[in-house]
Amino acid sequence: MSYGLNEAPSATAVTIGAVTLANPFILAPLAGLTNWPFRRLAKEAGAGLTVTEMVSATALVFKNRATLKLLETDPAVEKPFCVQLFGKNPDHIAEAARLAVDLGADIIDLNLGCPARKVVANGHGAALLKDPPTITKILHALVRAVKVPITVKTRPAFAPKTGATVFELLPLFVDEGAAAITLHPRLASEGFSGEADWQQIARLAEKSPIPIIGSGDITSPAQALEKLTNYGAAAVMIGRGAKGQPWFFHQVLALWQRKIIPEISLTKRLSTAERHAKLLFESMGPKAPFMLRKVLMWYTKTLRGAVDFRARLSQETNLENQLALLVECLARHEILTANEQAEANEENKTRT
Ligand SMILES: Cc1cc2nc3c(=O)[nH]c(=O)nc-3n(C[C@H](O)[C@H](O)[C@H](O)COP(=O)(O)O)c2cc1C
Repeated sequence: MSYGLNEAPSATAVTIGAVTLANPFILAPLAGLTNWPFRRLAKEAGAGLTVTEMVSATALVFKNRATLKLLETDPAVEKPFCVQLFGKNPDHIAEAARLAVDLGADIIDLNLGCPARKVVANGHGAALLKDPPTITKILHALVRAVKVPITVKTRPAFAPKTGATVFELLPLFVDEGAAAITLHPRLASEGFSGEADWQQIARLAEKSPIPIIGSGDITSPAQALEKLTNYGAAAVMIGRGAKGQPWFFHQVLALWQRKIIPEISLTKRLSTAERHAKLLFESMGPKAPFMLRKVLMWYTKTLRGAVDFRARLSQETNLENQLALLVECLARHEILTANEQAEANEENKTRT
């Protein structure tokens, strides 16, 4: 599925260890959402990198079937391919990284930022920010287990005056061989509340000898470019802002390369949603309709007054009826202006 854009690597291409990204716009990992169909559409729209949702290292070592499914990909499309692991057992994480590389991973990212209660309760994700010796052991094991670059994705700290800050951990990350750091600048204790503090990304980028990737609250292509330009980040991640609009990457690339934001026609919106549906069925089989309902809702968020559609869609499980509803909705509702879309994305952030 092409957007007709020349995606040749630019002169300012980003390198993560030995891996070069064609551009600095990355699809963020979103647990339960950035499955293979979503990543594929983002990649086809031009994303410089796509990352799996967080994958339990221990479950992967035990070859849990649902966990293996999270690594579904197609190397002809998803290159480079980044697998994010979480856990706290250095041996499991090293073994999981080896398995992920065997399955095609070009980069392994370590989750040090997830604030979810059940993750933190096990000492995983952001809880590791309170345990730097374990981070050292994990990174030490990871860089020796695989040849691909190891990156970390983190928060500035767990909570005020609790554990280590990302600034204190920077020498550890660098000494242990991390190739890049993604910072989502909200404390883990803040979850997703308030605003991402991009000044912290700027401060970290200033101090860091390795690339810093900024993540947080990018809701429009113009914002993505503004954040990339003004805060010293080598690349930026787009998460919630790409839900239901994988063409976000096409638009931001066009803006970056040619200073224009192409309109996405109703026909293109519909064909993308249809393709998303088809890919979900191919990937998930009988479980697809439940995911699809959520996904098709995303595609209406840039339309004015689509509330009635969402109510009807929430009752519908048959694919053909779902798509017919979407066609009707696209035909009846105007697309929001760029400003209105940014506001809708802003509201959508609270409905993850
Ligand atoms: C539903 C949801 C799931 C997420 N899952 C992950 C994850 O698996 N791994 C991770 O590192 N970050 C995860 N994040 C954080 C995002 O990658 C990103 O850093 C954060 O949402 C801020 O970016 P955004 O405003 O562009 O969404 C998740 C966020 C949300 C909202």
